[in-house]
Amino acid sequence: MALREDVATELDAVRARTLDLVDLTEEEQRRQYSPLMSPLVWDLAHVGNYEELWLAREVGGRPAIDSTLDPLYDAFRHPRPDRPALPLLGPAEARSYLAEVRGRVLDVLETVDLDNGMPLLDGAFAFGMVIQHEHQHDETMLATRQLMLDGGRPPSGVTAPPRIEAPYDGPSEVLIPGATFSMGSDLEVWAYDNERPAHEVTVAPFHLDAVPVTCGAYATFVADGGYDQRRWWSDAGWAWRVEAGLGHPEFWERDGDGWTVLRFGLRTPLAPDEPVAHVCWYEADAYARWAGKRLPTEAEWELAASWGPDGRKCRWPWGDARPDGTRANLGSRHDRPAPVGSYPAGANHLGVHQLIGDVWEWTSSDFTPYPGFRSFPYREYSEVFFGPEFKVLRGGSWATSPLAVRSTFRNWDYPIRRQIFAGFRCARDVD
Ligand code: AVJ
Ligand code: FE
Repeated sequence: MALREDVATELDAVRARTLDLVDLTEEEQRRQYSPLMSPLVWDLAHVGNYEELWLAREVGGRPAIDSTLDPLYDAFRHPRPDRPALPLLGPAEARSYLAEVRGRVLDVLETVDLDNGMPLLDGAFAFGMVIQHEHQHDETMLATRQLMLDGGRPPSGVTAPPRIEAPYDGPSEVLIPGATFSMGSDLEVWAYDNERPAHEVTVAPFHLDAVPVTCGAYATFVADGGYDQRRWWSDAGWAWRVEAGLGHPEFWERDGDGWTVLRFGLRTPLAPDEPVAHVCWYEADAYARWAGKRLPTEAEWELAASWGPDGRKCRWPWGDARPDGTRANLGSRHDRPAPVGSYPAGANHLGVHQLIGDVWEWTSSDFTPYPGFRSFPYREYSEVFFGPEFKVLRGGSWATSPLAVRSTFRNWDYPIRRQIFAGFRCARDVD
């Protein structure tokens, strides 16, 4: 059966990706580079433990390999700053644990009845959840590697995106007609609980930036004193800007009149046509106000990313075809966001580019449940995070797997966070 084979292929592919990311010394895998991130060796065994819990034990009914591992790798038990001091599996032990789990899981996959009526197995949901989870941690591990400030190096096999022939010269904004549309997903088999249920939302007409805000545009905001002018900032944003001493995106450094950017241990001149990254929500919000705009709501974002020319809901801005290298910069094929205008084949039918891939896009929305939300299959994926302290990000970054993003996918983080691969685009009311 094709589904079973697809699952086996994707399990294999995500594991190869994970192991590529820990092509580092033992010390580097054990070290904590930032209190915001786990040691890489924690992520490594954590994805194995998650896979064991859901697929070998819950779905397959297999006994625990070593139940003393469960609390060590439970993200809710030990906050990140405490993780390096735990008696974690070392790099070699973690690899053999992963392999042992995987052996059992492939066994389960061969024998399990995917049509037994269990919601957990419908469309191989539990397998999809585990594959997406490992890809999410791979992106987290890339963010950790970006924080290896000394000795950092680019992940292997990953290249810079090709330069585009001509800079983007299309319109700066696109008018998105208002619509009542179906937000979220009931049909997407691997969609998370927080994307469900699909429900009607009415969005008024608005203008949306055709491309993400670039480093060049953001540098103009900095040069214009954007960080020194209280009026562009929300109250909470200004308090944080002062407390944290923010003056430019993370990883930027002054270089004469210009800037350099530190990327995986290498300093390069700022690329003006690249989407800006490593800005927090407060910075995005301040920039938007300076530009005479605002951040889009997540409903506005999803309308632009999923509304086909015929009013049909699409998986992707361009339609239903899977993303490939011509449509979007995803899956860490490259080591950075691509210049704006790099993916004309990935634009929506109105000409909004790069909604998927390159950088996660901050929206103005808090992370809240959709009407009729039901936690599935566990509360700790989404439900415990709902509330005004988290802001929603959409669209995925260059580091996000195509399996772990879609036009309905919702990511979230605190408005102060900058280590994720996040930028933004602006919106504006129709006057
Ligand atoms: C959806 C990216 C916010 O990394 O905290 C990983 C995903 N959940 N392990 C996170 C997740 C459990 C989650 N985000
Ligand atoms: Fe996790």
